[in-house]
Amino acid sequence: MADRLEGRVALVTGAGSGLGRAMARRFATDGAAVMCADINEEGAQDTAAQIAEAGGRSSAMRLDVTDGDAVKGSLERTDSELGGLSIVVNNAGIGGAMGWDPTIGVNLSGVYYGLAHGAQMLADRGGGAIVNIASVAGLNALVGSGQTPTGEPPAPDRAAAYVASKHGVVGLTRQFAINFGQQNVRVNAICPGYIYTPMTAGMTEIPEGEAFLQSLHPMGRLGQDDEIASAAAFLVSDDASFITGVALPVDGGYSAR
Ligand SMILES: NC(=O)c1ccc[n+]([C@@H]2O[C@H](COP(=O)([O-])OP(=O)(O)OC[C@H]3O[C@@H](n4cnc5c(N)ncnc54)[C@H](O)[C@@H]3O)[C@@H](O)[C@H]2O)c1
Repeated sequence: MADRLEGRVALVTGAGSGLGRAMARRFATDGAAVMCADINEEGAQDTAAQIAEAGGRSSAMRLDVTDGDAVKGSLERTDSELGGLSIVVNNAGIGGAMGWDPTIGVNLSGVYYGLAHGAQMLADRGGGAIVNIASVAGLNALVGSGQTPTGEPPAPDRAAAYVASKHGVVGLTRQFAINFGQQNVRVNAICPGYIYTPMTAGMTEIPEGEAFLQSLHPMGRLGQDDEIASAAAFLVSDDASFITGVALPVDGGYSAR
């Protein structure tokens, strides 16, 4: 839909790779101007260059979402550099291998800062839409995560931190949807199943690992990054004008069991 997001301005965190890159590119294709923000500045610049090459409007910046002031600054910079901010995607995340504090810091506090500063800014500008990238791990605990077929040692803490952070993102989504419901700010979450991105490459590049992940999805496969981008483009568009506070699984049926 070439003009569904015409005139919109979006900040996408974690836009230097994987799902963030796919969403940034899709929003630009649909007509939005996109600020690509990532702790990996080079990755963010690559995404912005891909958008520009395709004829879209974009900019790039370094952002560490664990720094609340920096998140506020990135929202303000997007607004001043690209025009009136109307879309925020809190996507930056890590897989849990780094343990409790870093995982909660990036996956949960990072989303909280984007919501706390972003929802108010959008409200001050008459409204907008926020999408948080949670996970099926925000709806259910993970199975097999401590005993992967790749021979990794059991790491229950890794799964616990990731699951806790993503359940927290679903909770924040619901609370901010209620808090800002009457100020025309819609807040939703997407709960992806396993998707082919650099985050899952350690598993998917090993045949046994890929087969294990496929077996978790009733559709018998993993997802592609553009399947998450499609859902995000819908949720931030006017087609979703009466949808707020949902945690939408985009997961090939993973959470239906
Ligand atoms: N890939 C999957 O199967 C899957 C499934 C469910 C949810 N998710 C979630 O989707 C989101 C994107 O993951 P992905 O699969 O694209 O992974 P990815 O590793 O490809 O991309 C994550 C991006 O976030 C950036 N990032 C990490 N820490 C940051 C920080 N402190 N500040 C700013 N940027 C930071 C990284 O540099 C990277 O560019 C994450 O929140 C992840 O938990 C992924």
